[in-house]
Amino acid sequence: MLSEKAKNSILKLQDKYPVKRSALLPALHVAQAEIGYLPQKVQQEVADLFDLNVTEVHSVVTFYDMFFEEPTGKHLLHVCKNISCMLRGSDEVIAKFRAKLGLKPGEKTTGDKQFTLVASECLAACDRAPMMIANDKVIGPIEEKDIDSIIEETKKMDGHPCPVPNIDIERGASH
Ligand code: FES
Repeated sequence: MLSEKAKNSILKLQDKYPVKRSALLPALHVAQAEIGYLPQKVQQEVADLFDLNVTEVHSVVTFYDMFFEEPTGKHLLHVCKNISCMLRGSDEVIAKFRAKLGLKPGEKTTGDKQFTLVASECLAACDRAPMMIANDKVIGPIEEKDIDSIIEETKKMDGHPCPVPNIDIERGASH
């Protein structure tokens, strides 16, 4: 359940746009920052705040890979798999990350809940291919030899932040 504080933050975000539906993406970030992920119940709450059908909210949540319907690890590793990065070795980088993190086929989150690894569509830094974002830090070009140190440096970070500025929400329950 979203707190009153989160709901009020979402209502304030709606006031910033001529059409309140335009605030849906930042609102979902606020909800995710509080809960840690976006289960069906929370999607329904957000839909109610926007007078939308929950299927519309669900289609947004499942379109963007920065939103999660399951609890994530403390740290998010988005490794780009799109064309520029793929041509410069992202498949090998992703495979190496998976091996280093001990992820079994189909798993995204490590057993100790420290890391979630996502193979992402273009992250808009093709000039740094192959590249990734560790929490909010853009890294690239990545070489396979860098992977151990990227994991170690990421462990020292606070975890993935809410990208919506000036919204005072406690960190998610899964952190
Ligand atoms: S294809 Fe990887 S950042 Fe654009």
